[in-house]
Amino acid sequence: MSEPILKNITSKIRSFPSMPATGAKMLKMLEDPETSMVEIEDVLRHDPGLTGNVLKLANSAYFGIPSKVSSVKQGVLLLGLKRLIQLVVASCVSGIMDKPVPGYDLPPGDLWRHSIAVSIAAEALVKDHKNIDSEDIFTPSLLHDIGKLILGHFVKDELDDIEKIAGKGVPYVVAENMVLGTDHAEVGAQVLTQWSFPSDVIEAVRWHHDPDFPERCKASVDIVYLSNLLCQPNGEGRADVELSSTVIERLGIDVSQFDTIATNVSQWVDELAEALTFN
Ligand SMILES: [Fe+2]
Ligand SMILES: [Fe+2]
Repeated sequence: MSEPILKNITSKIRSFPSMPATGAKMLKMLEDPETSMVEIEDVLRHDPGLTGNVLKLANSAYFGIPSKVSSVKQGVLLLGLKRLIQLVVASCVSGIMDKPVPGYDLPPGDLWRHSIAVSIAAEALVKDHKNIDSEDIFTPSLLHDIGKLILGHFVKDELDDIEKIAGKGVPYVVAENMVLGTDHAEVGAQVLTQWSFPSDVIEAVRWHHDPDFPERCKASVDIVYLSNLLCQPNGEGRADVELSSTVIERLGIDVSQFDTIATNVSQWVDELAEALTFN
């Protein structure tokens, strides 16, 4: 690995756009159990563009609200504060995550669509397993590959070396780390730390390719890991790759349920991608 490359990556992380102010404020509010509806309305009132995006999203059939959501107050009442903040975060990052990603060969929109598919798969997994303790799986799933936006340029410059190592059967993310001194999971976690995301979200992003690494295994790490593998380009929601049997066991998941997850993803991915497209 080369020191100058790692230094360059660190400086790109530092200069990465900050989380829009409204999103950052809302994240802080979620951590405070005393947050009131009036405070939320007040923050959003100052950002009509974002409010419009959130209301559009809240009305997506995916979120299952039968009546039309036309105000923030109604949004909180019908969706709950946690879901509303998830939608704020999704609206804030949609503009950067639908960009093309060099190095990983992703045309415009592909990373975003994959991220949405992983979120749908993760929520489907959690929904069917009430025993899985995971508060917010939507956000880390949506953001798990955000590090690719920074690392892509560096991967592109060192592609020959990375592919040579990966060609020997080494996982791509490990090859990235061997050549660059870091990988997109670690870079993503650093971006989210800079954005002051809750530690659970950061941890799930950090270990989404290596769920057995953290000392204390968390369900959210396992779910993002599994959902990501179920949503590889060769099958949105289908397991065409080898999955960690330890993770499957830990989550208590029956692999026959993967078909239901695949159905969920294909049913909702276009709908949610449309709701997450803003002018
Ligand atoms: Fe990844
Ligand atoms: Fe991914």
